[in-house]
Amino acid sequence: MDVIEAMHERKSIRGFLPTPVPKEVLLEVLKAAVRAPSSENLQPWKFYVLGRTVIETLKAKVMDQIEAGKPPEPEFPTYMTMGLPQKYRSRMVELGKALFGLVGIERHDTEGRRLWYLKMMRFFEAPNAIIITVDEEISGFSSVFSIGCATMAVALAALPFGLGTCIQHAGVLYPEVIREVASVPKGEKIVMSIAIGYPDPEFKANSLVSPRVPLEEVVTLVGF
Ligand SMILES: Cc1cc2nc3c(=O)[nH]c(=O)nc-3n(C[C@H](O)[C@H](O)[C@H](O)COP(=O)(O)O)c2cc1C
Repeated sequence: MDVIEAMHERKSIRGFLPTPVPKEVLLEVLKAAVRAPSSENLQPWKFYVLGRTVIETLKAKVMDQIEAGKPPEPEFPTYMTMGLPQKYRSRMVELGKALFGLVGIERHDTEGRRLWYLKMMRFFEAPNAIIITVDEEISGFSSVFSIGCATMAVALAALPFGLGTCIQHAGVLYPEVIREVASVPKGEKIVMSIAIGYPDPEFKANSLVSPRVPLEEVVTLVGF
């Protein structure tokens, strides 16, 4: 698979087979992903790879937090907690419509939406997940940007192994629970999660090829 093909093929996967990913495969993916560039080659990332028992404990504890009405407390702000300008909001709404359309959740189906949200908080039932953290002392723009590069690298490196991923803010909305179950030290901030596993071919939302705005809207050719 060449790089251009991989980039066109990658898409977020939100339905997984229960088959766990062998740890050797996860390590191969990460071995490639850490070739990602980073500012000053600081390699500011730490990856916590969650196996079956830990992911189950984490999910149960997050469900308890939600049931207890505890509000999300991400360590970096997310759009879920920040609000969005209208122009961008409409892209988010379009995504929601497409996803809900595919899985048959109707506009006023609040229970269906609630269950989807809960499933998202459970890493879409992926057998494994990767939590990415950064040392608090270097947790500024350059490090978070570099972690973004590494996160995309994980998503691409997963493809040749037949794996699908969903990069997820939703997976890090209750960082204290992650800290506890994955033994993340206090001096590290929890940045992002990636659900990873073998895509469920029957799961309708996996067929979504999300739209992009036309290239002319985001590209300015200067001096040609
Ligand atoms: C930083 C970041 C956070 C994301 N968080 C979530 C999330 O919490 N839940 C989710 O379903 N998708 C999440 N996604 C996936 C995006 O919705 C997805 O990348 C976007 O809609 C484009 O679709 P594609 O990945 O299929 O190309 C996130 C992606 C990124 C890069």
